Amino acid sequence: MSVVPGDRPASIDRAVEVLAVGGLVAFPTETVYGLGADAERPDAVARVFAAKGRPADHPLIVHLGAAGAVLADEGWAVDVPDAGRLLADAFWPGPLTLLLRRGPRVPDAVTGGRDTVGLRVPDHPVALALLGAFGGGVAAPSANPFGRVSPTTAAHVVDGLGDAVDLVLDGGPCPVGVESTIVDLTGPVPTVLRPGGVRLEDLTAVLGAPPAVVAPAPPGTRSVPAPGMLAAHYAPRARVEVVDDLPALHDRLARWGTGAEGGAHATVGVLAPGAVTGLADAVVVLEPAGPADEYARVLYARLRQADRLGLDVLVCVAPPAVGLGVAVRDRLARAAAGSAAANAGSPPGP
Ligand code: TXA
Ligand code: MG
Repeated sequence: MSVVPGDRPASIDRAVEVLAVGGLVAFPTETVYGLGADAERPDAVARVFAAKGRPADHPLIVHLGAAGAVLADEGWAVDVPDAGRLLADAFWPGPLTLLLRRGPRVPDAVTGGRDTVGLRVPDHPVALALLGAFGGGVAAPSANPFGRVSPTTAAHVVDGLGDAVDLVLDGGPCPVGVESTIVDLTGPVPTVLRPGGVRLEDLTAVLGAPPAVVAPAPPGTRSVPAPGMLAAHYAPRARVEVVDDLPALHDRLARWGTGAEGGAHATVGVLAPGAVTGLADAVVVLEPAGPADEYARVLYARLRQADRLGLDVLVCVAPPAVGLGVAVRDRLARAAAGSAAANAGSPPGP
């Protein structure tokens, strides 16, 4: 595995060569880093699932260099509805994935045999240079081990996947920081399967009406209609707890501090949009995450920091549910469910 600067033409040439022989290239997008393979080579796609430890029934998003490839019927999708054209025009390149009827160029390996496919044109200079030079579709999930926190830097990719990746294109930190919004256009009404980088408010403005929104499956669910919509995901090792405001934060901390949760000796940290005062010295306060857009950008790095610091518990004050705050709250809830599932059966704290 090697890490090369993504902004050099020689790096892009090398990445295209790796993809052409069925290898894996991690690349930056505006949302998170992706783990890419030639979407039309089932052997290469199988390697992506193996590298992530991801179940084969969790389909991959196919990344394309231009919206025209989808809309001009180049075999990636068929029967694209008007809403698909509207959304593609408005948001591509950008943090939006459209679920469409699968075209003949998409192998079973990518979709887990489903007749739908997720397509996205990412808005990042390195991703667009790679996709443009490669010419075909690049199947890419987030470049992290299955169920863990998505990577927003090249170093995160190396930490998580190491030698399972052939080449990492380093494009610096991802500017959006949470994954794309996924809109399913294969049913009767446009339906958001995962909130993400495109705001619900902006989808509503373009569609002329609010899209339907699917709630995450309850914790413990192993199989859901839209795979990857598992409640437990994006989880650090620390137990994540989510509260809405400062009084609730102080209440949670008091419970940990008094041992009401059986964890009086747990190392407890706090992540909040702004500064928090009046905390006990023992509480580890992470640098504030800021308002929603900034919170999204730093969220995954902060979850990783919680693990590096060896925190047992991270209590997060969620941003309000507007704009990117919707995606941040979704990821926090899944991180909480994931860490609760991972910690089930053992009392919290040491
Ligand atoms: O921002 C993003 O979307 C990033 C970057 C790399 O593009 N990608 C990403 O991929 O987050 P991944 O695989 O980590 O998440 C994609 C989600 C998964 O939950 C997957 O199961 C779901 O989309 N998905 C993909 N194709 C699908 C399909 N045909 N039907 C249902 N769900 C699908
Ligand atoms: Mg992922």
